[in-house]
Amino acid sequence: MLVHVTGGAGFIGSNFLHRMVARHPEHRFVCVDKLTYAANLASLAGVESLPNYALARVDITDAAAVQALFDQETPDLVVHFAAESHVDRSILGPYEFVKTNVEGTFHLLEACRRAWGSSLGQSQPRGRFHHVSTDEVYGSLGDEGFFTEATAYDPSSPYSATKASSDHLVRAYARTYGMPVTITNCSNNYGPRQFPEKLIPLMVAHALERKPLPIYGNGLNVRDWLYVDDHCEAIWAVIERGRLGATYNVGGHNELRNVDVIDTLCAVVAEFTGADVSELLALKTHVTDRPGHDHRYAIDASKVRAECGWAPAETFETGIRKTVRWYLENQAWVDAVRSGEYRRWIDSNYASR
Ligand code: NAD
Ligand code: DAU
Repeated sequence: MLVHVTGGAGFIGSNFLHRMVARHPEHRFVCVDKLTYAANLASLAGVESLPNYALARVDITDAAAVQALFDQETPDLVVHFAAESHVDRSILGPYEFVKTNVEGTFHLLEACRRAWGSSLGQSQPRGRFHHVSTDEVYGSLGDEGFFTEATAYDPSSPYSATKASSDHLVRAYARTYGMPVTITNCSNNYGPRQFPEKLIPLMVAHALERKPLPIYGNGLNVRDWLYVDDHCEAIWAVIERGRLGATYNVGGHNELRNVDVIDTLCAVVAEFTGADVSELLALKTHVTDRPGHDHRYAIDASKVRAECGWAPAETFETGIRKTVRWYLENQAWVDAVRSGEYRRWIDSNYASR
């Protein structure tokens, strides 16, 4: 099977490739990535030397480039991670989000429609499009309740609105053209190789440098944290055992307030580095709130558990220790990402298709 993994050089995509390329030598994996600021080819060290792996530098908003890739290497499975993913950036500049998340998804769906052609709508259609989406499409919860697959869409940010649009497009291709699709809507991921603009790697980096730890608003917003490997396993479980056309919510029941996540991070960083925890906690600084800041996310993952046999392997307590350890042992990765060194290296080494 030929598998296109879009966004495979980003946080979750690279962790997915780390697990799946070595485990499945019978499949060939092509990482389809524009290599934006969020990509990091160093995240694929150890994968890129495997014989069943290749990189195609393709911007999914470029319909001709997507088609050229499909003509050359027609996928049997597309696992679609590629997106602009950071909420704060979407507030500052929404257009890139519309282009990549909506238009890019559209061009991929169109290329799949052409590639899988007359088999679509038949009892055994060719191909599979797995769309990786987010719980943010559902908007914000109050203090009680969970997002289920039946929760109405109510996105708050330009990021989540574009992800919601892409989900609708994917479902429309299933209903209209009979495209074999599955969708996962997952909660907040954390783990190795996450760009340090997101809460957890940012706080670790700032704690190590004794810089302020910026807490948006009152810090009482709740996120449902899932270790990235558990998300990757859920995606593979849905690809193998999910029903065509179905949506699955993915989450680990690790609901935590931001202030509690930050306190835990300070404690773990102090434990691993010998720092004085009160010195780290004193770095906490409340700053202006994010506009449209969702109050709470919490996932009901009973459907993916029941239908696909998936369950998370990590608790927040185990996952956060692995995560902090990884950032401490990979300071060079963090420093290079933040200095723009990889960006320059990528631009000089990888021409656009
Ligand atoms: P990321 O920002 O770390 O990586 C995104 C990747 O997509 C990068 O490698 C980037 O180069 C690539 N990309 C961006 N625009 C592209 C384009 N036009 N053409 C080709 N490639 C492009 O994102 P992530 O955190 O790994 O998230 C991956 C997916 O998972 C996204 O679709 C996101 O919405 C979804 N998701 C993320 C989380 C989370 O907590 N991070 C949770 C649920 C769902
Ligand atoms: O829920 C899934 C989503 O999780 C994904 O779809 C997104 O791609 C991913 O970025 C993430 O979105 P969030 O906005 O929840 O993640 P972020 O790490 O940006 O912020 C987590 C919480 O921490 C949120 O309530 C905002 C807050 N925060 C964030 C940063 C970066 C702070 O208080 N301070 C900060 O500096």
